[in-house]
Amino acid sequence: MSDPKSKNLTWHEGQVSRQDRERKLDQKGCTIWLTGLSGSGKSTLAVAAEKALADRGKHTYILDGDNVRMGLNNNLGFSPDDRTENIRRIGEVAKLFTDSGAIVFSSFISPYRADRDAVREIMGDGDFVEVYVAASLEVCESRDVKGLYAKARKGEIPEFTGISAPYEEPSAPELVVDTGDQTLEQSVAVLVEYLDKSGYLSA
Ligand code: ADX
Repeated sequence: MSDPKSKNLTWHEGQVSRQDRERKLDQKGCTIWLTGLSGSGKSTLAVAAEKALADRGKHTYILDGDNVRMGLNNNLGFSPDDRTENIRRIGEVAKLFTDSGAIVFSSFISPYRADRDAVREIMGDGDFVEVYVAASLEVCESRDVKGLYAKARKGEIPEFTGISAPYEEPSAPELVVDTGDQTLEQSVAVLVEYLDKSGYLSA
């Protein structure tokens, strides 16, 4: 954690522990950090996986790129510094949600390895599950769900990830989900099975 600007701060503990909350929810809090190109299927996977877990009675929450950029991060753009700050804030929010006992899906391009590693660093052991939503640029561009790749190719969107800004693949993610090759149902099954066998779906 970087040093706060304010001094004379004291951390306050509550009387209800994270373990108490997790026992009540019968799950372990964690953040499923989905990273990948725009159009790789992060948000689609988050929505479908959340539904699958909710159907099993699990308590979940989604943090999504476009949504968070409309509120908390509406003063940030897409320069490298702004993306780093975007991910830093989201990491702190995800950490709080994780401490609340929720299973959090975070769906952000998060193109820089160092930024993702910094989030892993502030989270407890096992709380950060990095999932590489792997679809090639060709696949994402051919889908072009939001029409942004076409605009970026025409030079209408500067610093667009994969076209005029970098994407750094994870070097050791907990899981790789190949959304270019799999159906959504298959990807959800892979992810839920990973969470199940890793013990997140019971207290
Ligand atoms: S991140 O790089 O800082 O992690 P984030 O996930 O929050 O990005 O936002 C990405 C979304 O913003 C994309 O899915 C797309 O809808 C939109 N967007 C707008 N401009 C850009 C850009 N220059 N590069 C990437 N995505 C952009």
